[in-house]
Amino acid sequence: MGLFTCLLLLISACTHISAQQVKLSAPIKLTVGEGFVNPIGYYEQVPRFSWQIAADANSQLQQAYQIQVASSLARLANADADLWDSQKQLSSATSWIKYQGKALSSRQQIFWRVRIWDEQAQISKWSEAASIELGLLANEDWQGQWIRHPETGEMQAFDHKNKQFKNKLYRPQYLTTQFIATNKTSDKKSTAEIKQARLYITAKGVFNAYINGQKVSEDVMPPGWTPYLQRIETLTYDVTALLNEGENVLAATVAEGWYTGRILWPVPREVKPSALLAQLEIQYTDGSRQTVVTDRNWQVTVNGPIRAAGNYDGETYDANYEMPGWNKLGFNHDESWKPVISEALEPQVVLAPKRHHASAVKLTLPAISIVDVANPEPGVVVFDMGQNMLGVPELNIPVLANQKVKIRFAEALQKNTFYTKNMRSAIATDYYTPAQSGVINYVPTFTFHGYRFVEISGFDQSKTPDLSWLKGRVLHSNFDVNANFKSSHAKLNKLAENVVWGLRGNFLDIPTDCPQRDERLGWTGDAQVFAAPSMYMADVYGFWAAWLQTVREEQADDGRIPNFIPTKESKHGRGSSSGWGDAAVIIPWELYLLTGDAQILKENYDMMQKWLAFHQEKVKDDLSTMGGFADWLQPHPKAKEGSQARRGDTSIELISTAYYAHSLDYIAKAAQVLGRDADAASYTASFNRAKVAFRKAYYDEQTKVIGAASQTSYLLPLAFGLFDGVDVTNAQQHLLATIASADHHLRTGFLGTPLLAPVLQDMGRSDVMYDLLFKETYPSWFYSINNGATTTWERWNSYSLKDGFSKASMNSLNHYAYGAVAKWFYEGILGIKSAGVGFNEINIEPQFNQRLTQASGSYKTPQGEVAVEWSIAQGQLDMQVTIPKNTLANFILPQVQAGTLIINGESVSNQKDAIDKGLTKNMLIKQAPGAYRITGRISL
Ligand code: BGC
Repeated sequence: MGLFTCLLLLISACTHISAQQVKLSAPIKLTVGEGFVNPIGYYEQVPRFSWQIAADANSQLQQAYQIQVASSLARLANADADLWDSQKQLSSATSWIKYQGKALSSRQQIFWRVRIWDEQAQISKWSEAASIELGLLANEDWQGQWIRHPETGEMQAFDHKNKQFKNKLYRPQYLTTQFIATNKTSDKKSTAEIKQARLYITAKGVFNAYINGQKVSEDVMPPGWTPYLQRIETLTYDVTALLNEGENVLAATVAEGWYTGRILWPVPREVKPSALLAQLEIQYTDGSRQTVVTDRNWQVTVNGPIRAAGNYDGETYDANYEMPGWNKLGFNHDESWKPVISEALEPQVVLAPKRHHASAVKLTLPAISIVDVANPEPGVVVFDMGQNMLGVPELNIPVLANQKVKIRFAEALQKNTFYTKNMRSAIATDYYTPAQSGVINYVPTFTFHGYRFVEISGFDQSKTPDLSWLKGRVLHSNFDVNANFKSSHAKLNKLAENVVWGLRGNFLDIPTDCPQRDERLGWTGDAQVFAAPSMYMADVYGFWAAWLQTVREEQADDGRIPNFIPTKESKHGRGSSSGWGDAAVIIPWELYLLTGDAQILKENYDMMQKWLAFHQEKVKDDLSTMGGFADWLQPHPKAKEGSQARRGDTSIELISTAYYAHSLDYIAKAAQVLGRDADAASYTASFNRAKVAFRKAYYDEQTKVIGAASQTSYLLPLAFGLFDGVDVTNAQQHLLATIASADHHLRTGFLGTPLLAPVLQDMGRSDVMYDLLFKETYPSWFYSINNGATTTWERWNSYSLKDGFSKASMNSLNHYAYGAVAKWFYEGILGIKSAGVGFNEINIEPQFNQRLTQASGSYKTPQGEVAVEWSIAQGQLDMQVTIPKNTLANFILPQVQAGTLIINGESVSNQKDAIDKGLTKNMLIKQAPGAYRITGRISL
């Protein structure tokens, strides 16, 4: 250590650092929890802090950090960290640092900053201050009651013949109260002004809130979907700017959403009435406070313009019922308005701040064409949005007074006709009745649709339909989509885009199977295969961590994980299946590997254990007897019809035992991270037993699967590490043989497909993966592109341009499972792969192939962005790589000819280091953060 470094270390122990001693730029991108920036209404009582070192900082690695947390900005600026001062911590960790200061409470605002010491022990400036404001953390914080219309709460009546719900209790409610904003601290007239106001609010159902006629936020259908009988999420809004001194109106609309609405097809059931809970807290400049809550002082009507609204069935809006100014001062309530009834909070239903972002309009798409349909009917027009999407339409259309406009949705046309059969019992139709003739602007509020085509009838036929009539508002949970993979191949790029649209189309508050038919459910198997891939494409860590809480809550006492989650207390979906229920183990472990956040393991470890214990009950002689959906929707199954046809050829016993072993392997690793060594040892022992039993029970002496040979029967043991020695090489050969015998077509369903790329790459046969990926004919990914796909389909043959939809009743054009392959675009084609935990060490190992001359893209690791761009021309590789700070990189380039590698202008004898370490691949290890230009001769 040099004298200067020693000096700096000494200085760092002092609190006052003078300006000239500060050399490094400050940490940036301060976030808390799963990536929140200065949140209000935050959910976590013990926040976790993360930051990054700026890409242009003059330091490379972090050696230590110091976090200060104060109760005010002024204190923080004066280094008066009254809540917590971590002091200097020798650690390279820049993420997930747990707060260890004074206990924090509901509503509390805190301010924090961080500084770091780099590899030279030089100290950085303090970061800019960041803030956190907690939400209402306990039910006791709520003073109001649930309020609702007095007539709600009857039984549902579904008229099967007319496919309609007829019962006014389904009408959305309009609720308001009036209050005077005043600080009642003294009798004298006070001059205190409003300093800050927060609206804490939620619903049983979905809501929009207003203050003095203005919407408090752009959130769509909050609070979203949780197991409502256990936990309802609450929202916090800063409404300071919306309040008047003096009289105000607080109002909300509430519709059924997921709480009251049906799940799957209609079944007789008891209806749970929708209700509102709100608490407006106003702080005045003199320190006094005022609280306005949901109580008997509210009024309600179900006689507003939204006549009905449901997730599956659509919204019915009648402008004749509009009540101009209903949510503002001075409105005259007619006799349809009733005093609300109120109900106490249920102590067993936890009210907790929403722990991920609510949904929002994330994009607006123009209609791209008006379609010439077969047998056109007068007064009916069909628009093409050019993209299958989840969202709602925005209509600007000419109408005639009291002539009802009908809006229907379809994912694709069937031989040029409008096709809605695959929506099954979802009516998916919006209606708008205009009160006057003219041009209306209408966006449905409390529903959502999965569609590409929109059929509109009932408009003013004297006008000619025009593309300006329609826009598509794309909805999903409010996270950033970062996907940016590009290559020299147009169809591959289209596939990458389609996968991202599959993500956008199925991340509305919970991960769903599809957005259009009467499901839209959190199927665990689909989630299990797509969670990790989705992390490469969007900021969805918070989204998954939140859903995992729901999974924990839905786990039965015996450890069973329902097939879709939430299941609500619906009569459907109570079973448990291998490969599906394993989501409870696989998702936490894979999220941990990607983020390095051990909290995700801590939170879920009990659930993981209970799931394994449940599975163990179904294990005999180390083989599983658990049932399941098997390799769901594998193409060309031996059984041609019935449920077996959907389950593919790989035996369910083999699949279940493989997943049993795989979950044991993952939980053993998780136990190790959490320091539970005894658990780790016992799970590892069970894993080894299951491995031996698996090998013996399902494969012959040549490691050939006993029974029908399927690609998946070899993929599972190879991907899950269930074979050793010669069994590995044998299975690899058998796998290649099954692929060859299918002429490089897919023979895999939901479970097998995601394993192809990692297994083939691992065995050095990425060329075979390219063969599969670039196949044009059925079953293949490009087959869907050749048939006009703009998303990933549920079935490999869901649709063809020639024949339209395949006959199956279960047939969605927006299912994300087969999109799991996109992980390989980043991990394989670009070669960006975490070599440790949370990308603290990164392998850059692109899988070059003669089919591609160029590829580029990046991934946002917790430390910063890693970017790769490569091109190959006349046997010459040219590659640019950016490695984020506080990270080391290994370049693994076996296809580059030895002696030709040039990095940043310098010829590199690249082998030595690697060979010294016993590594055989052509690689350069432990490279520092920064920008690299790499060239070399390459033979493909
Ligand atoms: C869903 C699937 C799900 C499957 C389970 C389907 O109806 O759409 O994606 O995983 O059922 O078998």
